[in-house]
Amino acid sequence: MKFFIDTANLEQIKDAQDMGILDGVTTNPSLMAKEGITGTDNIMKHYVEICNIVEGDVSAEVIATDFEGMVREGEALAELHDQIVVKLPMIKDGIKACKYFSDRGIRTNLTLVFSAGQALLAAKAGATYVSPFIGRLDDISTDGLNLIAEIRHIYDNYAFETQILAASVRHTMHVIDCAKLGADVMTGPLSSITGLLRHPLTDSGLEKFLADYKKGN
Ligand code: E4P
Repeated sequence: MKFFIDTANLEQIKDAQDMGILDGVTTNPSLMAKEGITGTDNIMKHYVEICNIVEGDVSAEVIATDFEGMVREGEALAELHDQIVVKLPMIKDGIKACKYFSDRGIRTNLTLVFSAGQALLAAKAGATYVSPFIGRLDDISTDGLNLIAEIRHIYDNYAFETQILAASVRHTMHVIDCAKLGADVMTGPLSSITGLLRHPLTDSGLEKFLADYKKGN
């Protein structure tokens, strides 16, 4: 399973990249705003900075909600760097734009996906990634992981190549459960990745090994 980090914070991206396990980055307008990155020029520059830190795919989201606008913005984003994946909203024009881009070899990520039917449409339109938001489903008492299982089942039935990018991952158990269910990618905060390191038996075991080494040296 690929590990993407869901942030526009350059320090956190560097941290994850330094661990050597980072496969890409996802961003969205809210994450950009959280880092104080505003205005088209600054946002575009920030995408390039992110691409210069990571080696993998970087999802950059369009703001337009009409087909022509999405095509215009998506083409400008794709021009920025060959690591850019154009992130499109799961609406009718988003599907149309997804087909437009996939026909031209431009990679896409269909975002704000909350149902198996939406994921089926994304695959039909040739999306590179589909992003089901599991945390936001959990937030409204709906099983987000069940959606990952449903999409995996459907995509496997027809050998769709669209990769399932489990998004809105909030914690380590989401990561582990997504891996069990066969999600191709997960994207979450840095804490959902570094949290995987933690085990009290690792800490106490290491403490004992070091104490015993010191006794003999
Ligand atoms: C995915 O691409 C989104 O940026 C993201 O995962 C949303 O997560 P949230 O529900 O924690 O905001």
